[in-house]
Amino acid sequence: MEPLRLSEKTKEVDQQYHKYTAGGICPLPAVLDRAEGSKMWHSTWAPFAEELCKRFGYDKVAAMTSGSEAADTACKLARRWGIQVKGIPASECLILGVSDNYHGVTGGVWNLMDPHEKRSSKTFEEEISYARQVYDLCKKYNILFIADEVRMGAGKTGKFFSYEHLGPDVVPDIVTMGKSITGGVYPASYVLANDNIAGQVGILEIVSTFAFTPLGIAASKAALKVIDEEHLLEKAQAIEKHFMEETANWSSLPYVEYATARGGDFNIILKPQSPGRKICALAMHRGVLTLSTPDRIRMSVALTMSKSELATGLDILKSSLKEVDNYTEVEGEEWNGRW
Ligand SMILES: Cc1ncc(COP(=O)(O)O)c(C=O)c1O
Repeated sequence: MEPLRLSEKTKEVDQQYHKYTAGGICPLPAVLDRAEGSKMWHSTWAPFAEELCKRFGYDKVAAMTSGSEAADTACKLARRWGIQVKGIPASECLILGVSDNYHGVTGGVWNLMDPHEKRSSKTFEEEISYARQVYDLCKKYNILFIADEVRMGAGKTGKFFSYEHLGPDVVPDIVTMGKSITGGVYPASYVLANDNIAGQVGILEIVSTFAFTPLGIAASKAALKVIDEEHLLEKAQAIEKHFMEETANWSSLPYVEYATARGGDFNIILKPQSPGRKICALAMHRGVLTLSTPDRIRMSVALTMSKSELATGLDILKSSLKEVDNYTEVEGEEWNGRW
């Protein structure tokens, strides 16, 4: 019998898969992106992995489903690098999260986060300076720097990755993406790293049934296209400018200490003991949904939001701040959790 050969196309996709993706399950060289009835057809993951690697300047990418899994995978990669490359004994390998951070609730990242530790930075510039110093320390001591861009990536802050605010020379060792990388329509997350790190984790060590599904890849490709073609980075910068103009004298409003924004990510910092949850509940009754934490009101708006939609939303928020004391009770304000 003649030996059986793979087609040139299959070989190409298979090579692409091994070159640009991390982890995986070493499948037979037949990966799928389309199904109908009981039949299935060929794949888009390897070409998309190459696109992501080339676009963002990393050797390899791993796909996951949620942001928590991406952050967890980043920790796994860092740990493996620490043990295998840096030679740290496994029991002494530490991954540190900066205070007041959130990376999801899987076991691998849960204990990085200490809700009791708060930094006192008030402005975005102070946050940037803090993060830059953490980065510089990492470089100095050969420690990996992980940029978790699940929330603030994909253009949210007016740059594609928020770490770009730290300076043009900053190159994180590992980068995670999730949430808006699919425009929020479908769960998909990604972890980028270079070969010296991504290559430490092998077959069957980073896998997830619903990672790199055809739908997730299609949604990610579409989101990147919209970010590029609709100039969402510039739009994020314009949204920030409008927000800052509209809220310039909000510190004269009841309960407000100051308002701050970077791109489409807004914070209204409240004075101590403010009825933050009640203000947010009132805004909700009036049509604006925000995230209430004890010390601030948070919003992260769509980068396609128009100037007039933003103004309408801020009017509602402003009236809620002014009128909250007129209400003895606002249904929905109850909060039974812990911060
Ligand atoms: C920075 C960051 N990392 C990770 C996560 C976890 O993402 P997911 O909820 O998709 O698991 C979040 C979620 O808010 C996040 O903000």
